[in-house]
Amino acid sequence: MPVSLSAVPPHPEDCRLSEFAAAVLEGLSSSPRALPCRFFYDARGSELFEAITRLPEYYLTRAETAILEGGAEDLLASVEPGATLIEFGSGSSRKTELLLGSGRFAVYTPIDVSSTALADAAARLRRRFPALAITPLVADFTADLRLTGACGTAPAVGFFPGSTIGNFNPWDARALLRRMGALLGPDGRLVIGVDLRKDRERLIAAYNDAAGVTAAFNLNLLARMRRDLDARVDLDAFAHRTLYNETLGRIEMHLVSLAPQRIDVAGQSFAFAAGETIHTESSYKHTPEGFAALAAAAGWRTRRILTDDEKLFAVMLLETD
Ligand code: AVJ
Repeated sequence: MPVSLSAVPPHPEDCRLSEFAAAVLEGLSSSPRALPCRFFYDARGSELFEAITRLPEYYLTRAETAILEGGAEDLLASVEPGATLIEFGSGSSRKTELLLGSGRFAVYTPIDVSSTALADAAARLRRRFPALAITPLVADFTADLRLTGACGTAPAVGFFPGSTIGNFNPWDARALLRRMGALLGPDGRLVIGVDLRKDRERLIAAYNDAAGVTAAFNLNLLARMRRDLDARVDLDAFAHRTLYNETLGRIEMHLVSLAPQRIDVAGQSFAFAAGETIHTESSYKHTPEGFAALAAAAGWRTRRILTDDEKLFAVMLLETD
């Protein structure tokens, strides 16, 4: 029985511009200043992120892909043929092919805010897996998603790769994992990619690459304010900064003002002192045990933990309790 999903409320792409304006006004008014990292991913930002995944310093994508290449069969061994795969924030659905290749899934529901990314991925996957029913959903996966129709019988497997869970502080991560459990149902399983704690130098290099791609990715938030919101902002007067907060186990990205200046946007003017920052992203790093404990607090039992040879990254299989 195919699963259909509906987002409540829907987040069509046309709504995102004013959503961005509202987030910018709120984020620049707050103290300390911060912007939600989901706004990195406009067309330019998504392009820059794709480039990041190919950087020598950015080990995450390569490590996760290697784990899935070697471990997909192992991870999916308990999945009944005909199951549904639901992916949260599917983007290009590249890694998903490594799960779909198992032939265990009858239905694939990718969820993403970008309808163009969904359409491109669906077209490619339909050619590669002609027997698979693909039912994309344009939605923010953090929104309140509901299963609709007669779908209680289809065993659902969630897929949440890329260490996207790292963008959520432990409190929000637990709430999100709990909601995913509710969505996936009583026999739900979740295949999730988790970046692991490691030495500070390695972590910082991954978010402050020599070629400056991550810097461009971070500064694209300001460029996007100019493009989408007609903001007045001097891109050369801000710099990319990466730090590792070892106590909290998180990488932080900031935009630091290099001089006293103002950003004029959406009818308001924000003064910056030299050295003042905008916090643009947190990326939490976990230990396998720490993440299993977090998942347990959200109602998930950890069934498998697969890592790469260097133990840089983990792909975990969770089952609802
Ligand atoms: C896609 C959120 C997992 O935190 O590693 C990459 C985004 N930011 N470089 C990450 C990102 C800077 C990435 N996630």
